Amino acid sequence: MSPVDPHSFTDSSQPFCTNIALALYLDFSSTTILGSVLILLPKCHSGSLTLDSRDISVSRVIDPVSLSPLPFSISSTDPIKGSSLTITLSRHSSVFIAFSTSPSSSALQWLSPGQTSSGSHPFVYTQCQPIHARSVFPCQDTPAARICYAARINLPLPLCAVMSATKVARSKPVIGEGFPGIPDSLWCSEDRIVEHFSMEQPIPPYLFALAAGEISEQALGPRTTVYAAGGSELLDAAAREFRGIEDIVRAAEALFGPYEWERFDLLLLPPSFPYGGMENPRMVFLTPLVIKGDDTGAQVVAHELAHSWTGNLITNKTNEDFWLNEGFTTYAERRIVEAVQGKKRADLNIGIGWRGLNDEMERFKDNMEFTKLKTKQEGVDPDDVYSQVPYEKGFQFLLRIERQIGRPAFDEFLNKYITTFKFQSIDTETFLEFLKANLPGIENQINLQLWVEGTGIPPDAMEPESTIYTQIVSLAQEFKLGKMPREDEVVDWNGQEWELYLENLPNSAEASQVAALDARYKLSGSGDWEVKVAFLQLAISCGCKQYFGEVERSLKQVGRMKYLRTLYTALVQGPAKEEGKVLARRIFTEAREFYHPIARGVVESIFSKHL
Ligand code: BES
Ligand code: ZN
Repeated sequence: MSPVDPHSFTDSSQPFCTNIALALYLDFSSTTILGSVLILLPKCHSGSLTLDSRDISVSRVIDPVSLSPLPFSISSTDPIKGSSLTITLSRHSSVFIAFSTSPSSSALQWLSPGQTSSGSHPFVYTQCQPIHARSVFPCQDTPAARICYAARINLPLPLCAVMSATKVARSKPVIGEGFPGIPDSLWCSEDRIVEHFSMEQPIPPYLFALAAGEISEQALGPRTTVYAAGGSELLDAAAREFRGIEDIVRAAEALFGPYEWERFDLLLLPPSFPYGGMENPRMVFLTPLVIKGDDTGAQVVAHELAHSWTGNLITNKTNEDFWLNEGFTTYAERRIVEAVQGKKRADLNIGIGWRGLNDEMERFKDNMEFTKLKTKQEGVDPDDVYSQVPYEKGFQFLLRIERQIGRPAFDEFLNKYITTFKFQSIDTETFLEFLKANLPGIENQINLQLWVEGTGIPPDAMEPESTIYTQIVSLAQEFKLGKMPREDEVVDWNGQEWELYLENLPNSAEASQVAALDARYKLSGSGDWEVKVAFLQLAISCGCKQYFGEVERSLKQVGRMKYLRTLYTALVQGPAKEEGKVLARRIFTEAREFYHPIARGVVESIFSKHL
């Protein structure tokens, strides 16, 4: 037995499954899914087949040809990996598994009608990255694997479902479709409908995605439709915000080659969605908070679009190589932003990223392993160590190479990298070999080992030197001397300028000065969540207790983990931490049900470190 991934029970001596067919019966009343999965192997296999699962109960495993039962066992639960499901095969190339998920499935958030915007229908959605697909169906849940899938989703009328796949049909349930996990009496009841999907491009399991509930839609361009949970209010705003989407996709194609996933649809989820965006292929999942009425939501979309090349086409082999996904994507995102919105906006993003990278060095000062690009993650929960390091240090590494060889040569290299490795999962070593083979002598010009294996920020990383960055950072330094930016200095600022400014202010600023800044520029009430959270973080860290109320309201309104991490950490670490801790606990008790299970886990882990 040899594992391929520290986060998976997948065994390298066993074949990788290449195709699956799923039948999922969504039971909103019990917040569980009753499922059948048909697993197809590329060749006959005898002996064990080991799959990942978490909080899944398996009722039967059967041979699809003879319909006879096959022996299986489920291991005890590992707190990070879940349980292995081991099936004994003898010259089988396929297997049927009947299972059900648990209400505590880590990938699924079930919202009751009362928790949705329209209030009349329930909603459910998945977030499978990094290792949560196994809590929806048993699978080899490692990004080293790639599967194509077909799925039948059975749901109550009048709801509808969307997936990161092609919708093939919506039809009445047919007897036998849910076999062997779902009885026909349930599958075929009068008030149910079946949506059929097919995903023909092979994806790692973490890119499996499903949402179901009341969903409205509006076409935006030749390959983009925007979908939104609930009614049409948000949809109109989203359609306005993303009207230039096709130009962004074309700009990305001009940089990185043809878009391989046909559709680039967007889905706006409820505000509890734990990320800004998730690059599910064919349909990106987004927080509704990105819709701000300016064009900055395009940055998140540019990022998720960039993953269509870096991440979804070329995937990190395990989470230890996560920077290959996010570092390349951050680089690609900024190239798209530069092409579409201009260099000034891209420079601002680079500045915000640089600040974020420096802050992470402080966060990980007692655990420097996670300031490396290639990390060791045996026994580590990837959700616990999620940080800006793979994004921003990865970006800096690629920028360092670009600076060495010049942009035209780097573009050529990047395009060759994409065509060489598309639809593959690779590790850092494979990237380095390819780099050295294609840019001979690069290892003598850049200390590749220091960049990849070293801790901290390498000395040849570059603090941004753009005008906009320098101006804003020096204004932030003047704040320490008691100077507030003047109206004429901030007249052109929008959210990202404010974000950079606020994030560069010292956490030791005078509370009265912070309150005065807010009185003048209304930052705590900003409709831009990046600005609002950056301000509240500063205010709490500077001991302004009058903002506790606003922090509480915010933490009950949004579930994006970036904001939860920042605000809960500020509460439990700030100068008023004794009161902050009591407040944090109370808010979490009251808001817990509203958060996605992954976000609940992250807040609990902050508490376990600080309370
Ligand atoms: N793939 C990530 C989100 C993710 C990472 C989910 C790790 C689970 C585990 C996505 O592409 C992302 O990076 N989102 C960012 C967007 C931002 C960088 C523009 C986010 O949500 O903040
Ligand atoms: Zn990303």
